[in-house]
Parts: sequence; structure tokens; C-alpha cells
Amino acid sequence: MSSKERFADKMEFPPAAVQPNVFPLSWQAQTKKMEEVWDAAQREVWDPKKLPWDTFDVTKYSWEEREAIAYWWTLLSVFDASAPPVFAEALIKTYEVHEEDPVRRCFFSVTRDEQNHEQMCGLAITKLLEHPDPLTYEPKTELGKRLQKNAHWLYYNGSRYWEGYKKAVPKYSLAVLFSSFLMGEVAAATIFKQMADGSQELVFREAFRNIGRDEGRHMAICMALMERDYPQLDLTDRDTITKQVRAGYLFLSAVLFEPPMEFWDLPADFIDNQREGEAVCRQAGFAVPEYEAKKENWRKAILNLKGVLDRYDIPFPAIPEVGISGKEITDVEMEDIIPVF
Ligand SMILES: [Fe+2]
Ligand SMILES: [Fe+2]
Repeated sequence: MSSKERFADKMEFPPAAVQPNVFPLSWQAQTKKMEEVWDAAQREVWDPKKLPWDTFDVTKYSWEEREAIAYWWTLLSVFDASAPPVFAEALIKTYEVHEEDPVRRCFFSVTRDEQNHEQMCGLAITKLLEHPDPLTYEPKTELGKRLQKNAHWLYYNGSRYWEGYKKAVPKYSLAVLFSSFLMGEVAAATIFKQMADGSQELVFREAFRNIGRDEGRHMAICMALMERDYPQLDLTDRDTITKQVRAGYLFLSAVLFEPPMEFWDLPADFIDNQREGEAVCRQAGFAVPEYEAKKENWRKAILNLKGVLDRYDIPFPAIPEVGISGKEITDVEMEDIIPVF
């Protein structure tokens, strides 16, 4: 066994370490922007537990309202609760490929931020339902029952992409992974801004403001990496990115807009239930945007992304659902998905 083979008595210096070796023993720093984002992340650390929870009186809401608002947080969790492991995996990759030190730290900060976002979902749901688990909770209203069925389907669909993601991370360069991350960050920055503006409850407004600020930093990290790497991008990577953007649209539409049924495996009454739940949320002062507003916001976010990719001559996919023409991409499966939130 080569692992038993001793070298120290045969040579002055050891043989070269087998790569990828997970620890670089090097603290190079080239991308100044990354250092700035890291500094901002350190300054802007927040703790979900320290939000003004004492101002949040759940008893002023009806059970239907509580279950509807908890459903929205559950929908968000389908994306945000997978973010800590997703970014932890990407963080490991930055070490394996011996990324520069500020890039490794930036990924560490994203992992930590996403952990906060996940924690926030849990705190909101637990408080609203007086139960820590939206799937085993026993709904008190008829709408609550239908929304819980929706939650089961979302959870099932979301669970299908982890294995694919784990295979994708070693396969693709950071440059490709970043285009998918950027899609998620653009989407996230959009939704949290909307939710912060539309929430009457102080604790939610503050949470959305913090989360939105975190997502803005995540976006800046992606942009800085793209600026560094995209000028040298090779052609096959461009095709992968185009496909991933289409995949990102299909995946993230479930939270930003409405889930496309050709991609999400969901029952026929899913959208009606969700719309009903969202109407109850709005009535209760938790302003989930209406269909047309969601569509317009999502369209704007995608056009922003298109502006970025155009700079590097990366063909944009057609997204006819929101009126964007481009390269036709078909056959996207949950297993092909890199996008994260
Ligand atoms: Fe997040
Ligand atoms: Fe994020």
C-alpha cells in the first residue's frame, strides 16, 4: 500500500502532495472586491434570535392567517433550507481548487448567511404554528390542510436535486457554478426587497431587510468572480451556462413566480391552493406580491442577469413565460439543476 510507504528516510523533501488537496497552505489575494465584500459581511452580521420577537403577537392573527403565512415561509424554506449544505459544498470546492484566500472567506460568509436565513424560516414557522415542523404539524383549518399538502409536494420536488447538485460541483468550474449562483442571488435579492416593503409585522420587515442585504453581498461575490473569470471562459462552458439559466428559471419560478408544471411534479389544485393562501397572507398584512407584480419583478430580475451575460457573449435562453426571447432550451430535468437560492 502506497499509504504505508515511507519517504522520509529516502529523500530530503517529501513527494508532491496528491491534488486536489483540500488545504492550500497559501493566502494569496488578487481580487480586491472580494476583500471588501468580506469586510462588509463581518460588519453586517445579524442574529435572527435578536430580532424584535417580543413585538410579534401571533394571537392577533386568525389560525387561517397563521397557517397561510407559515406556508409562505415553508415555501421559502424549500429553497433556503437547502442553501447551507449547498454552499458548504461549494466552500469545500474553493479549498480543493486552491482559490485565493478572500474567495474562500466569501464562501464561508455565504454559508453562514444562508444558515441564518434557514434559521429565520424555522423561527417564523415555529412561532406561527406553535410547532417546529410544517410537514407533521396538524392543520387547524381547511385551507391549512390544503396548503400542507402543497408543502409535501414542494418538499418532495426539492429533494430530487441534491444528488444531481453533488455530482455537478466537481464536474464544473467555479465560473459555471457562479452563473447558477448568480441566478439565485438575483432572484433572492428581488423577493426580499418586495417582502420587506410589503410586510406590516416589524419582525418580518427587519428579517427581510437583513436577508436582502445579505443577498446583495452574495450577488456582489458572484459578479466579482465573473469579472475575474469570464473573459477567459471556454466555449463549452458558455453552452452549459445558457442551459443552467433556463434551469434556474424553471426551478426558482416556484418561489419567485409560479412553478412551471412541465418541470415541477405537482397536483392540479396546487396553484389554486397557493393563490388562496397568498390572498389570505395579503389580507393579514403579509404582502406576497400578486401574480402580475411577481411576473414583472421576475422579468426585470432575469433581464438584469441577461445584461450581465451579454457582456461576456453568453447566449441567453428563451424564457417566453415572461416574454424574453433567446436560445431554445428543452429537456431540463430536476437532476440537471445547479441553481441555489
Ligand atoms: Fe438566502
Ligand atoms: Fe444567497
